[in-house]
Amino acid sequence: MARIEAEVGKPQGGFMKWIDDRFPFTKTMKQHATEYYASKNFNWWYIFGVLATVVLVIQLVTGIFLTMNYKPSAADAFASVEYIMRDVEWGWLIRYMHSTGASFFFVVVYLHMFRAMLYGSYKKPRELIWIIGMLIFFVLMAEGFAGYLLPWGQMSYWGAQVIISLFGAIPGIGDALVEFIRGDYSISDITLNRFFALHVIVLPLLLIGLVFVHIVALHHVGSNNPDGIEIKEHKGPDGIPLDGVPFHPHHTSKDLIGIIVFLMIFFGVVFFAPEMGGLFLEHANFEPANMTATPEHIAPVWYYTPYYAILRAVPSKLWGFVLFAIAVVLPLFLPWLDRCRVRSIRYRGWMYKTALTIFVISFIALGWLGLQPAEGIYVRAAQFFSVLYFLFFILMPYYTTIDKTKPVPDRVT
Ligand code: HEM
Repeated sequence: MARIEAEVGKPQGGFMKWIDDRFPFTKTMKQHATEYYASKNFNWWYIFGVLATVVLVIQLVTGIFLTMNYKPSAADAFASVEYIMRDVEWGWLIRYMHSTGASFFFVVVYLHMFRAMLYGSYKKPRELIWIIGMLIFFVLMAEGFAGYLLPWGQMSYWGAQVIISLFGAIPGIGDALVEFIRGDYSISDITLNRFFALHVIVLPLLLIGLVFVHIVALHHVGSNNPDGIEIKEHKGPDGIPLDGVPFHPHHTSKDLIGIIVFLMIFFGVVFFAPEMGGLFLEHANFEPANMTATPEHIAPVWYYTPYYAILRAVPSKLWGFVLFAIAVVLPLFLPWLDRCRVRSIRYRGWMYKTALTIFVISFIALGWLGLQPAEGIYVRAAQFFSVLYFLFFILMPYYTTIDKTKPVPDRVT
C-alpha cells in the first residue's frame, strides 16, 4: 500500500524532492555552493570575479533592451541611438548603463587579472582557468570593438577604419583580409551589419560559454587564495579542508556587500559622469559618421590605449601590428614564464615585486600615452614603456628563478 502511495506521488519530501528526482538541483547547489570549500582568508581582491559576472549580466540585459530600439543600418543607426536617448522611456538610462558597463567591464577584468598576478593564481594546477580567462579577455576586446561601431558616430567610423586597416599590413593576404572583415571596399552599411551580428549574438554567446567553463575549471581545482596555499592539502577527519569555509553563505554574504558598493559607484558614474570627460564616450562620437572628414585626433576608448600606444610606438606599420598582437597575447604564457616556486606575492622576493610594480606603471603610462597625439615626446615615452612592458615577460623566467623567496606557511594566515 505504502509503495503504491509513493508511486502515485504522495509527498515524500515535497517540491524539492520532486525536482531532485528529475534534475540534480540540490546536488549541484551542494557541490558548487554550500559544500564548495573556498579559503577563509579571501580578501577584497577576490570580489572582481563576481563583479565581472554582475557586469556581464548588466550588459546582457541592457543590450537586449537597446536592441529593441536600435537600427543596425548606416542610414538609421546614429539617429536611432539619439531616439533611444531622447524618446524611448528610460532609454537614456539603459544606454548609459550599457556604455558605462563596457568601461567597468574592463576596469573589473583588469583588476581581476592583476589579482591573479599578485597571488600566482595562474600557476599549476590553475593554468587552464587562466587560459580560458585570456580567451574571455580576447573575446571581450572584440565585443567592445564591434559594439563601438554601432552608434555610427565619427569615432565609431574612424576608430574602426584605423584598426581594421592594420590588418592590411600583413604581407600577402593583408588587403584581402581587410576587405573580408569590412565585407566591402570601405567601412559601410555591410560592415555595420556584420558587426551588429557579432556584437549581439556571436561574441556574447562565446563569452557566456567561456565564463561557464572558466567557473567549471575553477571549481574542479578549487580557488587559490592570498597565501597561495593549496587548502586541499590539509583536510580534517571529515575530509573538509581545515582552512576552507562553505562558499555559501560565507563568501556569498561578503560578496553581496561588494556588489552593493560596486553598484553605488557604478550608478554614481551612470548618473553623474557617463561620458567620464570623454574617456567612456568620446566627444567625437556625438557627431554622425562622416567618411569625408577625419576627426582631428583618433584614439580608441581607454581600455585599448595601452596596446594602441605600443602599436604607435613602432615606426613600421607591420611591426607595430606584430608587437601590438604579441603584447595582447603574451600574458597567456604567464603560467610557464613564471618559474617561481611560490605563488603569492607575500612570499616572493624583491625582484618580482619590483618587476610587477614597473609593469603596472608601464601599463598605466602606456594607457595614458595612447590617448595623446602620436608625436614627439609621447612617442619616445611610449617606446620606453613598451620596452619595459615586454621586458617584464621576457625576463620573467630569469628573475623568478633567482628571486629569493620566503618560507610559505603550511596553513593560511
Ligand atoms: C567575463 C569575464 C570574467 C568573469 C565573469 C570571471 C569570473 C570569475 C569568477 C566568478 C571567479 C571566482 C572568484 C574570484 O576568484 O574572483 C574567477 C576566478 C579566476 N579568474 Fe576569472 N572571470 C572573468 C575573466 C577572467 C580573465 C580575463 C582572467 C585572466 C586572463 C581570469 C582569470 C581567473 C583566475 C586565474 C581565477 C582563479 C583565481 C584564484 O583562484 O585565485 N578571469 N573568475
